Amino acid sequence: MSFTEYTKESWKGSVITSPLPPVLVSCGTEEKPNVLTVAWTGILCTQPPVTYISLRKERFSYDIIKDSGEFVINLPTAELVRAVDYCGVKSGRDTDKLKDTGLKVSKASEVTAPIIVQSPVNVECRVREIVPLGTHDMFIADIVKVDAAKELLDDKGRLALERAGLLAYAHGGYFPLGAKLGSFGFTVRKNKKKKKHSKGK
Ligand SMILES: Cc1cc2nc3c(=O)[nH]c(=O)nc-3n(C[C@H](O)[C@H](O)[C@H](O)COP(=O)(O)O)c2cc1C
Repeated sequence: MSFTEYTKESWKGSVITSPLPPVLVSCGTEEKPNVLTVAWTGILCTQPPVTYISLRKERFSYDIIKDSGEFVINLPTAELVRAVDYCGVKSGRDTDKLKDTGLKVSKASEVTAPIIVQSPVNVECRVREIVPLGTHDMFIADIVKVDAAKELLDDKGRLALERAGLLAYAHGGYFPLGAKLGSFGFTVRKNKKKKKHSKGK
């Protein structure tokens, strides 16, 4: 394999990892919900499934999530980009972001925090630990349920998330995902179909 090689300038440490998902985090209750955009998120463990979000203390959502111990990570699609940005620059302290954006909430399966209807995948989380780090506190949370769009299930019941048009965040910009280049382990996987085909040749 041969790839582009880069020469480097060395900078002080900063938060440049890209791309990230700019997720919509919903909290509160179905009757009194709030939503904020969070890019500092990811997976910490597969089994048990553990995730995190890092929040500044001054976010209106911070105390809601701390007090309830629950939140939902709603995966955003490119279609939702305006709502994603808006929920990341306006505070629930000053306005009803759901009303402003047209985002709708409904009841989650397990947690009290509501899910966002227009997001194809809702990750229901229960906080296990809050780790103060500096500007942000990391909320480490168990993923207790996942709600997946029936519209994206294929005939085998597999979630065809590649059809959702997920949104990415990189270096201050929002981007749609590009074309699929491969899938997990594709460099070593034997292509059964191809093999069969080539046998006949
Ligand atoms: C793309 C994007 C990513 C963001 N990521 C985070 C984050 O990871 N943590 C955080 O505390 N705030 C983050 N913010 C800022 C909050 O979403 C923003 O301050 C929001 O207004 C807080 O809403 P609230 O006061 O209703 O809780 C992000 C904003 C944008 C636009």
